[in-house]
Amino acid sequence: MHSLIRYSLAATAVLSMAGGVSARPSAPREGQLGQQNRIERPAAVGGGGGGGAEAKVANAKALYFLTNDEDNAIAAIELGDNGLVTGKGATYQTGGKGANGIDGATNEKAAPDALFSQSALTVAGKHIFAVNAGSNTLSMFAIDPNNPLALQKVGEDIQLPGEFPNTVAASEKNGLVCVGMTGQKAGVACADFSAEGGLGQADGLREFQLNQTTPPVGPTNTVSQVFWSADESQLLATVKGDPEKGNNGFFSAYAQQQQEGGNQADQAKAGKFRVSQEEIRSTPGGTAVLFGSVAIPGTQDVLATDASFGVAILNEKQQQKQYAAAARLELPNQKATCWATISPLTNTAFVTDVGRNMLIEVGYNANANGNGNGEGGEQGELSLLNEIDLSSIGGPDLGLIDLRAAGEFVYALSPGAGTGEEAAINVIHAGTKQFVQNARLTGVGAGKNSMGMAVYV
Ligand SMILES: *[C@@H]1O[C@H](CO)[C@@H](O)[C@H](O)[C@H]1NC(C)=O
Repeated sequence: MHSLIRYSLAATAVLSMAGGVSARPSAPREGQLGQQNRIERPAAVGGGGGGGAEAKVANAKALYFLTNDEDNAIAAIELGDNGLVTGKGATYQTGGKGANGIDGATNEKAAPDALFSQSALTVAGKHIFAVNAGSNTLSMFAIDPNNPLALQKVGEDIQLPGEFPNTVAASEKNGLVCVGMTGQKAGVACADFSAEGGLGQADGLREFQLNQTTPPVGPTNTVSQVFWSADESQLLATVKGDPEKGNNGFFSAYAQQQQEGGNQADQAKAGKFRVSQEEIRSTPGGTAVLFGSVAIPGTQDVLATDASFGVAILNEKQQQKQYAAAARLELPNQKATCWATISPLTNTAFVTDVGRNMLIEVGYNANANGNGNGEGGEQGELSLLNEIDLSSIGGPDLGLIDLRAAGEFVYALSPGAGTGEEAAINVIHAGTKQFVQNARLTGVGAGKNSMGMAVYV
């Protein structure tokens, strides 16, 4: 079924890191990835006409993930015009350290899913932000739009007021970046940022009493993800419970606040936005281990995974400002459904399960009755559309973790089966549902600790 295509790469461009404001420039490494790629091309890739009703969407130019090793680095991977991994890449040391949580079942270092999170790094505009879980810091880089493989460190890493940062959300519109931390001191903190000045100081920790250690023992009872609502008016966080201890976890919302008059762009530039210290906490009924989530475009609703059953839609109740589960979808044979993305091509969600070599497509209707601000528990709809089995590819790719949909494709990170093999990127066409590429990142130096997934479109 799948043909094995091996190719060696011509020397990749040496990316210059000269100049810049960084006092501690990170060392780029030449990429030599993709030396063992298995590719199957679908008939419809790149063809606007083949899909019929599907609108043309711009493909991403590069993707990024964190190696999350002791010497933490961002891996930048080039994507061709056809949306596939080209085989060109580079890595950039953040200057900080990665880390592993402790797997509560084995007492060993957790991997894959070393950080128990979605969004260990994120792109906002032309900037990329990455957590250093082992040094409690946040790093910022600039992306060169003409060569998105070229990253340049912006300013200094900032120290965070908690421990074990494992997830980050950035808003260009607000000029704010927020980090979730899940060690002994757990919670959320934010900082402003600008292209010129880099990261400002982190504000005060919005604390979560998880009674965790550093590193945390998980994956239960840890912070899963921070992310912005679709209109970027709220910072949201998912926190896993521990069903064995009768702890159902929670969902937190913090309002974005404006400090003075003026238009949003000027205010963002002047660092005049902040995130409220006031937490609005919900425990949506029927959820227990809320994990990776995605804001549903054009709504205030969230499509959330829950490792204990599958997928839920969370929406804000009209009066109380709290969030409730408006729909639940139990996925058959699921082990731990933990990461989610929404495809701009299909307007459907794709979710992954670290215990299964499968991509699941889920249809959603956030406002089934035409009103997204109902009481919750009745207005959303979810449906299981497709189970895309990737196991025929074989290899060290058991279990997919963080993923992003961009253009026609879905890109899912597979950090290896925990036996030390290199990480791989799995590329699936969102429209045809075909598994089009399994790119083994043999020259990147990224293994089972790898986390996060972000794209530059
Ligand atoms: C943490 O400890 C406090 C005080 O004993 C307790 O109230 C709280 O429920 C604990 N939290 C968790 C998540 O176990």
